[in-house]
Amino acid sequence: SVLTDLIYGGSNAVAGLTEGAVNDAIAKHGADTKVAFPDTAYFLPTIYAATGVKVKTLGDLPACVGVLKSLISNKEDLGEALNAGLATAVGAEILEALKYVESENPYENEAGIGFVPDPIIRSLGVPLVTGDIPGVAVVLGKADQTEDVVKVVKDYQSKGIMTFLVGGVIDQCIEGGVKMGLELRVIPLGHEVTAVTHVVTVAIRAALIFGALEPGNLPALLAYTKDRVPAFVNTFGEIDSVVVSAGAGAIALGFPVVVDVDLGENQVPGALESVTDHTMTVKKSLELRNIKIKVTELPIPVAFAAAFEGEIIRRSDMHTEFSSHANPTCELVCTTPADEVEDHKITVVGQDIDAGGELALATIVKVAGEKMQADFESVIERKIHAWFNYMEGVMHTGQRNLIRIRVSNAAYEAGLRLNHFGEVLYNMIMDEFDSVVDKCEVTFYTEADKVQEILDTKAMPTYNARDDRLASLTDESVDEFYTCILCQSFAPSHCCVVTPERLGLCGAVSWLDAKATKELTPTGPCQPIKKIGCTDERTGAYTEVNKVVEQATQGAVNQVTLYSLIEDPMTSCGCFECICGVEPASNGVVVVNREYKGMTPTGMTFGELASMTGGGVQTPGFMGHGRHFIASKKFISAEGGIQRIVWMPKELKDDVADRLNKTAKELYGIDNFTDMICDETIACDTEEVLNFLTEKGHPALTMDPIM
Ligand code: SF4
Ligand code: NI
Ligand code: NI
Repeated sequence: SVLTDLIYGGSNAVAGLTEGAVNDAIAKHGADTKVAFPDTAYFLPTIYAATGVKVKTLGDLPACVGVLKSLISNKEDLGEALNAGLATAVGAEILEALKYVESENPYENEAGIGFVPDPIIRSLGVPLVTGDIPGVAVVLGKADQTEDVVKVVKDYQSKGIMTFLVGGVIDQCIEGGVKMGLELRVIPLGHEVTAVTHVVTVAIRAALIFGALEPGNLPALLAYTKDRVPAFVNTFGEIDSVVVSAGAGAIALGFPVVVDVDLGENQVPGALESVTDHTMTVKKSLELRNIKIKVTELPIPVAFAAAFEGEIIRRSDMHTEFSSHANPTCELVCTTPADEVEDHKITVVGQDIDAGGELALATIVKVAGEKMQADFESVIERKIHAWFNYMEGVMHTGQRNLIRIRVSNAAYEAGLRLNHFGEVLYNMIMDEFDSVVDKCEVTFYTEADKVQEILDTKAMPTYNARDDRLASLTDESVDEFYTCILCQSFAPSHCCVVTPERLGLCGAVSWLDAKATKELTPTGPCQPIKKIGCTDERTGAYTEVNKVVEQATQGAVNQVTLYSLIEDPMTSCGCFECICGVEPASNGVVVVNREYKGMTPTGMTFGELASMTGGGVQTPGFMGHGRHFIASKKFISAEGGIQRIVWMPKELKDDVADRLNKTAKELYGIDNFTDMICDETIACDTEEVLNFLTEKGHPALTMDPIM
């Protein structure tokens, strides 16, 4: 058929191109020259996942070209032709990898970012499982009319869809004023069609990172991407055979392709469809992938979308600022008797933002509800940050009495005022917390004296009382722990056990959050675990935990401890904030955060350490966890606790220092414990790290062998 001819034409062209490029590269640089994408533990991910081959040097590539060619049967059969599409994906991956042989940063002078590092994929785990990012779009080609693609991309952006751009559409979106960047969920990859590999490997690495895919198991890989990665492709403009064969590769991975040219009878329903009316492109694409968008229609004059969360408002674009540095500020959600709350009443006491400049602000949200508990106040309050940020032209940082809110000139001119902030809070609270909140009233105060008074008499005492409550919340003081299985959509056999002293490894789910989730969605991802059947206090082993985890993971995990890194450690999904790994030379552990790009004394980067565990698999000696867990008295307490920590990246160490030092003082009487912990500004080399630890008299050196 015309279609299979096109696919094979493209695949064969790419195969020829790849073979030539590999031979040229070997002739030029030598077969021993290293080939690798930056900041990944998965080699050339498509080849690694599909075949198990770990490409490390140019000399490894000719064999891969052989495999690639074997995928192209040239048989008149659509299934066979889709395999040829996979060959194109492999070819594109090799061609892109060769760019990284020629230059360390081949995308330096491009409007695209090229290869997407592992830590970014891990950071996308939570927003994808919560549906905050409802899908992933690949927009490729060059539209006949710039405005067509601009409208489509802005529509995806407003829906929170993560959109990757490949080809001339990048320049068209820049021209059309689309705000771009990872945070804004529109990501330009590169101009050449081979750059599409950089989104393909994102999907493929998701399978390796979260899905515990066994490299070389191609059918399992294809099943994972089809069932669990909600991606689809839109092409704009004329399509050539290479684009069609790349599209075939996408279809093989389970990603439907919508083209804007008329393919007539060559369409494949559900997989390859023509939509020539651009106003229907988004709707059709979402339908094909069965992505449902929850629309929150808000009565405000600016856009409201998760994609605007990362928006930065510079001082020069700023109309009004509420900043704790300049004026008193606070945000407070308080449980109030029902008869003292007037539902949906929004009041501004003091001047609104018309005059601009610096203002004080107290945001007081009164909530009433039969099922409302004081413990949920902080859960709701923390969401104010995201909701205010979702407004286009509004930037919010911080929480409680330490905040900064900026309103842009454009948002002000569009008519945005404080009562709209109130509408956002009211509507979002009633939407997300409707099972505990029956009535909600919002009041803003902007006079400095009044805000100061509220701060002194109401807000600070409430924050302090909550902190006392949190400090008194220990694993010993409660009767129940909670499961969290939110990440199972990506990591099917993973289950977090959340306790007061051990939050979920993503850092986003505390025991209070889990408790609130259970109340809000009784059959949802967080279920209580009765704290009974303790068989080992030291490791935190409970028969009841084992039983519930076994059920929650459909039998995949049946023994898990709460406090050990070595004995049945908790599993990891892949989206953990930090990884803890044994450092044998010093008899201790390193703790590394996702943002850290450098080397560690274990000889592994964060990405490489992270790849040791994940996908719900237990790997003694390696464990993902939240940042906040580091200063917990329960942190690997079975192995001796935090005094095992010998090395952390400086940024992480500084961030947790106050709390970590406090715990060390309480547990072991050590002052300024973090001064004993090495970091990359001191040493990364095992020997030098050991010298530093010896000089400081680090406790790990004289403890029992960790393994
Ligand atoms: Fe995923 Fe665990 Fe966080 Fe739940 S607590 S969202 S399962 S990482
Ligand atoms: Ni914003
Ligand atoms: Ni996760």
